Amino acid sequence: MAETTLSSTPAPAAGASPLLRMEKVTLRFGGVVALDDVSFEIQQGEILGLIGPNGAGKTTCFNALTGVYQPTSGQVVFDGLPLGRRKRYQINRMGIARTFQNIRLFQNMTARENVLVGADAHHRTGVLSALLRLPRHRREEAEGHRLADELLELMDLAHRADDLARNLSYGEQRRLEIARALATKPKLLCLDEPAAGFNPVEKQRLMDLIRTVRDRGNTVLLIEHDMRLVMGVTDRIVVLEFGKKIAEGRPEQIQNDPAVIAAYLGVEDDDA
Ligand SMILES: Nc1ncnc2c1ncn2[C@@H]1O[C@H](COP(=O)(O)OP(=O)(O)OP(=O)(O)O)[C@@H](O)[C@H]1O
Ligand SMILES: [Mg+2]
Repeated sequence: MAETTLSSTPAPAAGASPLLRMEKVTLRFGGVVALDDVSFEIQQGEILGLIGPNGAGKTTCFNALTGVYQPTSGQVVFDGLPLGRRKRYQINRMGIARTFQNIRLFQNMTARENVLVGADAHHRTGVLSALLRLPRHRREEAEGHRLADELLELMDLAHRADDLARNLSYGEQRRLEIARALATKPKLLCLDEPAAGFNPVEKQRLMDLIRTVRDRGNTVLLIEHDMRLVMGVTDRIVVLEFGKKIAEGRPEQIQNDPAVIAAYLGVEDDDA
């Protein structure tokens, strides 16, 4: 299928380099080609949507760019550096944070503690200074608490700060995951179907929050099945099908792309 060209997409500012570049990434699981020669860029400050039918390779794409899996070939370049064989925590330190398709919280910790785990992951002081409670450690700890409270507020969870994660509603748990990811102060926030299982009102509210997150200075990569929703919040969209990129462009371009319509409706391009 032909790839949509981006003739009317505004060119990035002169000299601006993309925050992330997927370069011809292929990822195989045995006989399954989960990603097939996929290339795209994420520009600083944009909300990029990653869409495609079930099994298209969206989550695998997240796994490739957060160090869960190594590409079979090709590479991911973040902030000018190839990720290479870096481990997940190293990639997180470089500035990529994610949430998961299935909620992964510390269920027996409070909402605030869950966010603090994210903040702690970012701390520079080691165990020794923590044990000795050196000033630098105390400063980081205070900063972590301030950040946690700010993020809980941002995600509409301030009133739930001291409640155990497992007592939060499903929607609150999803927002808590985002707060925890943000606590690592990422440059790039990757959200894997953050609105799955939400009703339309909750979904819209979450999309507004995602826009707020971007406006605070984050770049966002968003996997979302709801086409209408993704069209409303993203600046650009990349479409995967069977591991291949079949289209890329602005929402209005994607919406009218025959290959995308065919992929979603499961019909031949000519019939779409
Ligand atoms: N760890 C793995 N081992 C083997 N196959 C895998 C693994 N992870 C993913 N796959 C396969 O790779 C393909 C892409 O899966 P992926 O989870 O990335 O799709 P997705 O686009 O996120 O789908 P969904 O919308 O259902 O979440 C599927 O065929 C899947 O079965
Ligand atoms: Mg997935």
